[in-house]
Amino acid sequence: MKSQDLKKFKSSAFLVKSNSAISMYMAKLEIANAELSLKLGRNVLIHTCARVKTIESIQAKCKKKGYDPTFECAMEKINDIIGVRGVCSFQDDVYRMAEVLATHQDLKIIKKKDYIQHPKNSGYRSLHLITEIPIYFQGEMEWIRGEIQLRTTAMDFWAGVDHQLRYKKGKKEAVLIGRELKEYSQVVAELDQKMVEMRERIDAI
Ligand code: GTP
Ligand code: MG
Repeated sequence: MKSQDLKKFKSSAFLVKSNSAISMYMAKLEIANAELSLKLGRNVLIHTCARVKTIESIQAKCKKKGYDPTFECAMEKINDIIGVRGVCSFQDDVYRMAEVLATHQDLKIIKKKDYIQHPKNSGYRSLHLITEIPIYFQGEMEWIRGEIQLRTTAMDFWAGVDHQLRYKKGKKEAVLIGRELKEYSQVVAELDQKMVEMRERIDAI
């Protein structure tokens, strides 16, 4: 990436806008949680986190995907420069969160990637929403893109272990562990299913 592009990523304007977007996304998750918790009488969202992608990681992704290594191209093509995550105990609550967020008119849902119904090859499961949120800065409004990852605690646990393995990619042992991990992804899916059923049985008592 040329130095003028790096400068744009390091500029105060980019950082202020990115951090504002993160605050807004986090507020959206909390508000959706408050609405659902009121309706269901239990807390739905267990944990949230957010991050702005590092310049190194943005550059690596441009290279991997064959994008022009410019600020404008990265901003246009990379959906997860801003990333927020919401973790729920139960799988049906993951979808409830997505449904409530879809009712917010100041959150554009550009694309939904359902890796719960259609897990990735690795076994990765989560519900991703590629979204845009309006951010006001210096008298102008700009829609800032961000990826919302919604998943259960069990999916989050699995993804965390998988993430550790990614740094060992290419090694022989890693291939075997990857295969084993894919099997556990199925175990996690079954556990998620059983936990919803168990909650329903508890509710019926
Ligand atoms: P990258 O996978 O980041 O190149 O982005 P993409 O544009 O191909 O989108 P995708 O939906 O595949 O992934 C977006 C994000 O989901 C990633 O940055 C990760 O946070 C997460 N993710 C996707 N696949 C996996 C996986 O196999 N394991 C784990 N742990 N996380 C994954
Ligand atoms: Mg990917």
